[in-house]
Amino acid sequence: MVKEDKIKPLLTEEEIQDGIQKLADELNKRYENKEVYLICVLKGSVMFMVDLAKRLTMPVKMEFVKLSSYGSGTTSSGKVVAVDITLPDLSGKNVLVIEDIVDSGHTARFMIDYLNNRFKLNDFKFCALLNKKVKRAVEAEADYYCFEVDNKFLVGYGLDKDGCYRNLPYIGYIEV
Ligand code: IMP
Ligand code: MG
Repeated sequence: MVKEDKIKPLLTEEEIQDGIQKLADELNKRYENKEVYLICVLKGSVMFMVDLAKRLTMPVKMEFVKLSSYGSGTTSSGKVVAVDITLPDLSGKNVLVIEDIVDSGHTARFMIDYLNNRFKLNDFKFCALLNKKVKRAVEAEADYYCFEVDNKFLVGYGLDKDGCYRNLPYIGYIEV
């Protein structure tokens, strides 16, 4: 733990898990027996992907893409870099993107455009654990999210600061 970072708790482990269960209930109703490809946006969404996937009852396949936009700072660079976007042919498939947080909107916009331009999807939805209440730099909204959060720099449960704190089971914020 970096000594000078004081993490103030925002969402407890229990609150996060309850929020994910509510989302899973909604998704289980929507997709029922339909097969869905979950596309996890690494690295931040790894915890959310795992906990959500365990609660889904329809047939699910899991894919992982690795994007980068933040660099080492605490504000979006605005440039999304696809570090690894290896995917099977998703044409005709139902796709649900799993993202940790929508902030500036750049990452969401990139994924929405990329997947819809590359494949002729049967169905496309975007879900995020967190929806940051900010004015988006580009137009992009999640179809589903678990929690709305204020414009603070958050860490934990997948979210990092310079690569740290992803393993915390709760979410907190750091004063920057
Ligand atoms: P956006 O492209 O600005 O919408 O931000 C998307 C990505 O930036 C997310 O997938 C996160 O990985 C990262 N991010 C956004 N806000 C935060 C935060 O408060 N803490 C840590 N990472 C964040
Ligand atoms: Mg992310």
